[in-house]
Amino acid sequence: MATTTIPGTTDARLRLHRVGGGDGAPASFAADVRRGLTSTPKRLFPKYFYDALGSALFDAICRLPEYYLTRAEDEILARRADDIARAAREGFGERAPVTLVEFGSGSSTKTRRVIEALLRRQDGLTYIPVDISVSALEAGARALLESHPQLRVEAYAGDYDAALARLGERRGARGRTLALFLGSNIGNFDAGEAEDFLRRVRSVLRPGDALLVGADLKKDAGVLEAAYDDPLGVTAAFNLNLLARINRELGADFDLRSFRHVARYDGRAGRVEMHLESTRAQTARVSSLDLEISFGAGERVHTENSYKYDADDLSGLAARAGFALERTWRDAAGLFSSNLLVATSRDDAA
Ligand code: AVI
Repeated sequence: MATTTIPGTTDARLRLHRVGGGDGAPASFAADVRRGLTSTPKRLFPKYFYDALGSALFDAICRLPEYYLTRAEDEILARRADDIARAAREGFGERAPVTLVEFGSGSSTKTRRVIEALLRRQDGLTYIPVDISVSALEAGARALLESHPQLRVEAYAGDYDAALARLGERRGARGRTLALFLGSNIGNFDAGEAEDFLRRVRSVLRPGDALLVGADLKKDAGVLEAAYDDPLGVTAAFNLNLLARINRELGADFDLRSFRHVARYDGRAGRVEMHLESTRAQTARVSSLDLEISFGAGERVHTENSYKYDADDLSGLAARAGFALERTWRDAAGLFSSNLLVATSRDDAA
């Protein structure tokens, strides 16, 4: 594994570790596109939304009036960061300094609130952000270090598996941990994947360590469908950019105007599904895969699930993964939840 200090940073408070190839690796993108578009029904993985254009479109989604999730979580963190820091530290039953770990940190904008709440309770803080995007990690770390002289940042750029392996090796050296998994990222995992991810996080924690999980709540289908199918068409562009990315990176000739964005809430499954629907019978060619793909009129490519939770879903998931759901905070409108999970001892795991 390569470990680099970010060039141009004379500050010894910043270390950037590159771990694992990550989800953006070209070979895995090509293989997953081949597998997904030749299977029945067709599907593409949501992790491939986030190239440079897709990340910019996602930032725009977060500003849409219909996409309430980001604002609701930010409202909770703005109002409750001190309660969160206090509750997380209580679980440790001691005054030991806490290390803050964040999975999927992006540029760490929302994390600032938790960092500041922890720094009101301890002299210094080590912050360990994990993200696939080196540029987002770097930008976020620089901004945080500039405004917080008591902070040290130890960033891991790569996939969660590789970063978790490193975090596991250094578990003993870290002291007490508060981990963050914000932004409803848990919602993009299917039930088994969510449990598996939480178990892997649990394996790098010690009993009493805490994990704050942001989860969108089950609600009226109209509100949910508007959040994933905005009238400005930003979410449609975000979804269609998957085909545009295949055109750019794999030499494909998808006619983007012959596909439409579909977002539907399936109340039984408790998830918003996003699809790309072919509006006519057509064939696309992906030259670097030497592949031709035919679509019937109305045929769909499934691109994302976004699961919505209620209190029972969350406490059940937590227990199965070796945590207890200790506290839940909601925004004033009751749309979104921030959930503090505390690692139980192994024997307590269901
Ligand atoms: C990143 N993730 C939590 C977003 C969500 O709400 O599932 C991705 C997204 N898809 C469409 N809009 C936003």
